[in-house]
Amino acid sequence: MATRFDPAGPLRGRLRPPPDKSISHRAALIAAMGEGETPIDGFLDSADTHSTLAAVRALGATVEHGGEDGLGPMIRIRGVGLRGARATKIDVGNAGTLLRLLPGWLAGQPEGSWTLDGDDSIRRRPVDRIAAPLGEMGARLSCRDDRLPPLEVEAAPLRGISYEMPIASAQVKSCLLFAGLLAEGDTWVGEPARSRDHTERMLAAAGANVAWLRGGVSIRSAKRLEPEALAVPADFSSAAFFLVAALLVPGSEVTLTGVGTNPTRTGLLTILERMGAEIEVEVEGKHGGEPIGTLRARASALRGTEVGGKEVPLAIDELPLVALAACFAEGETLIRDAAELRRKESDRVATTCAALTALGGEAEPTEDGMRIGGGGLRGGAIESHGDHRIAMLGAIAGLASREGVEVEGMGAAAVSYPGFEADLASLSSP
Ligand code: S3P
Repeated sequence: MATRFDPAGPLRGRLRPPPDKSISHRAALIAAMGEGETPIDGFLDSADTHSTLAAVRALGATVEHGGEDGLGPMIRIRGVGLRGARATKIDVGNAGTLLRLLPGWLAGQPEGSWTLDGDDSIRRRPVDRIAAPLGEMGARLSCRDDRLPPLEVEAAPLRGISYEMPIASAQVKSCLLFAGLLAEGDTWVGEPARSRDHTERMLAAAGANVAWLRGGVSIRSAKRLEPEALAVPADFSSAAFFLVAALLVPGSEVTLTGVGTNPTRTGLLTILERMGAEIEVEVEGKHGGEPIGTLRARASALRGTEVGGKEVPLAIDELPLVALAACFAEGETLIRDAAELRRKESDRVATTCAALTALGGEAEPTEDGMRIGGGGLRGGAIESHGDHRIAMLGAIAGLASREGVEVEGMGAAAVSYPGFEADLASLSSP
């Protein structure tokens, strides 16, 4: 059944978006690598992060839920130690981050073998990007057509390498840093452009020897990890939907609190500000080693822009929202250097352009991005293609459209944001 989102009056109010998905995945994995019990304050309660909890349990860690604290559920994970992961089969569900990060840890175990598999979308997500450098480290991996899940991992001794990533990817970088903890000698991962650095921050805080040098990150083999209490800020990528909604719906003013403002995540702010958006960022301090802040967005007149180069990894998950905002801007917007969008939970160049075109917008796919014209959106019906970010984009498009939008497959939002519809309704005028 489709879910309908009608044109809205001004959006007003204040909320704290749910905990960060990227950081929650990492927190569970790093806590599982630890020796003792690690509390995680504000772990995301979503389909994707449930897959990660199920995975660490299957590997031998214990997970206890410790009640609400206002930031989302508190959990406690008792780890198996850096070299104590139990052999098992792992269902990663829809979680690409779990699929790409976990093999780095497993590949260097002293013994055991593992199979990682997931849903239909996961089976289309390439893993050769991790299998190739892990193979150079001595890992024993195999996958379907040398490229796709299921992925088989067999324990093997690893050696440190220097690896220059062809594409900036935080998932590949994180995978190799995990493997580097277990390898003999140092491992260095170079990136052509900065990508999110949550793994580096968290590993350094857990006592790993991590250094930033020569446009990359190096890590030294470790005997053990000792994660302190971990804490997860609110997810900038979830906040982004409300920021864009506030910009597009006339008369709106929305405030989002406790949001992670790590500069490797907030490329969207730079892009939107260039488009003329009125967004204020108030620094709140640090939470779990990550900067956090309050974001306030007001309805704004937007102009088209060009997005490309080093800006792309800093806004990779928000580019569909840039395209939506561009539909309401004056002039044309061009997004380039973003071929990676085609390899997300759906082909987001195709699914974003299909959605915006179905709603009366002008959105044309290009080889490495899209070209979007202004003029607003009439409304109509779209399909999420099982992609959480496309489902939520459809909802925001509905509020900003002239006639409303029906989203088929809205349930996909639960992958990162189960309470999305209720939170959106709390900002809508009665
Ligand atoms: C993520 C990194 C990005 C991003 C994904 C989450 C992460 O993927 O798109 O949603 O948590 O490391 P890539 O590393 O493939 O760019």
